[in-house]
Amino acid sequence: MTDLDDKARAILRLNDKGGYTLPTHGLYPYQWNWDSAFAAWGFATFDNPRAWDELDTLMASQWPSGMVPHIIFHKVDPGYFPGPDVWGTGQTPPTSGITQPPVAATMARLVWEMDPDAGRDRLAALYPKLLAWHRWWHEVRCTHGPAAIVHPWESGRDNCPDWDIGMAGVDGSSVGPYTRRDTGHVDPDMRPTKEDYDRYITIVEFGRNCGWDDKTIVDEGPFLMSDPGTTFVLLRAHRDLAVLGQALGHDVSQIEEWAAALRSALPQIWNPALGAYDARNLRTGAFANVLGSGAFLAYLAGAGNTELDTQLMRVWDAVSYGIPSADPEAPSFHSRKYWRGPSWPFLNALLAIGFTENGRADLAERLRAETEMMLQKHGFWEYFDPLDAAPCGGADFTWTAAIWLTWAR
Ligand code: DGY
Repeated sequence: MTDLDDKARAILRLNDKGGYTLPTHGLYPYQWNWDSAFAAWGFATFDNPRAWDELDTLMASQWPSGMVPHIIFHKVDPGYFPGPDVWGTGQTPPTSGITQPPVAATMARLVWEMDPDAGRDRLAALYPKLLAWHRWWHEVRCTHGPAAIVHPWESGRDNCPDWDIGMAGVDGSSVGPYTRRDTGHVDPDMRPTKEDYDRYITIVEFGRNCGWDDKTIVDEGPFLMSDPGTTFVLLRAHRDLAVLGQALGHDVSQIEEWAAALRSALPQIWNPALGAYDARNLRTGAFANVLGSGAFLAYLAGAGNTELDTQLMRVWDAVSYGIPSADPEAPSFHSRKYWRGPSWPFLNALLAIGFTENGRADLAERLRAETEMMLQKHGFWEYFDPLDAAPCGGADFTWTAAIWLTWAR
C-alpha cells in the first residue's frame, strides 16, 4: 500500500455522493456515464458493494429505449452548463439526451471477477439493463456498420480533431445566448473553443426540438459520424457482456451476432491513406484523416495490426508521458487542449489492457510507468501535457484515481 494508493482512495471518497460519484467537484458536478463505470472499477479494489452501487445508479437512469444517458443530474448545480433545463429530456431524475462509450459491461466484468460469489446477485440484476443498452447500440447506432455518434460529447473525446469535419457542417450561428461555466473552473485554453460550444449547443437544441427521437436525430440531425473509439469499446463490451451472460446461464448467441456484425464493419473505418482506423463523416462519407486515441482502442477489441503498431509507436515516441490523444505531428495538435493532444491516464489504463492481452506486456508496463510518473509529480489530475507532464483540467479526478488503484495491483 503506497501513499499514492491512499490518496486515490481518499479522492474516490471525496467525490462519492452516496451511490454515485462526481468526476470532480466544480467542473463536473453530476454523474457522468463512463466516468461512473471507471469509478466502479476503482471502488471494487477496496469496497466491492460500493462498486455495484455505482453501476446500479448509472443503469437506473436508462431510458425506455435502452439508451443510457451521458449525464444524470441528481441535484441541480448552477456551476455546470448545459444543465437539465437546456436538455429538456423530461426524465426523472433529469438526464442529458445523448449517450457515452458503453464501457459499463467491461467494467462490470472486471468488478465481478474481483469477487464473483459476492457479486452474482448484483450482476444478475444489472445484466438485463446492460443487454438492453447493447441492443440499443446495435439497432439504433450501428445501422451504418460501425458505431455512430450524434454529438462529439458522445465519444467522450469531445474536441478531438476527429470531429472537425463533422463540426464544420454544423451551423452554430443561430444559437441563443448562454454562459459557459467550464471556463470559470479551469484555464480556458485547456477547454474547447467558443465556436465548438456554439455547435455543441446547436446539436443539443436539435435533439430537444425533436423530442429526443432517435430516428430523427440519426436521419436528420446536424452531426453523424462513425467513431472508432466507441466502436472498439462496444466491440470489447459485447465480448464481456457475453462472458457475463454465460456465467449467469443465459443464451448469448444474440450478443455474439451483434459482435460479429460490428467486427465485419471494421474495414469501413480503416483509412488506407492514414494507415490507421479513422473517424468518418456519415453525411458525406469523408474520412477525418487524423490519427487519435480512438484508433488505438482497437487493441482493446483485439483489432490491432502491424500498420497500426507503426502509427502507435510513432506518436508515442514523439512524447514522454503516455499515449497522446491526438497526433503530435499533425497541425491540429495542442498538448494541453483537452482531447487535441493531452495524455489521459484512464485511457492509458484501457489501452494497457489491450496491450497485455495482445502479448505486449512490455508496452503495458511502459504505459503504466509513464502514467505513474505524471501522478507522482502532480497528483490525480483529469489529464496531462504529454510533453512535460503539466497537470491539466480538473484536480482530484475520480477516474484517474480509480485506474491507479486497479493498476497498482
Ligand atoms: C463537458 O461538459 O465538458 C462534458 O465533457 C460534456 O459531457
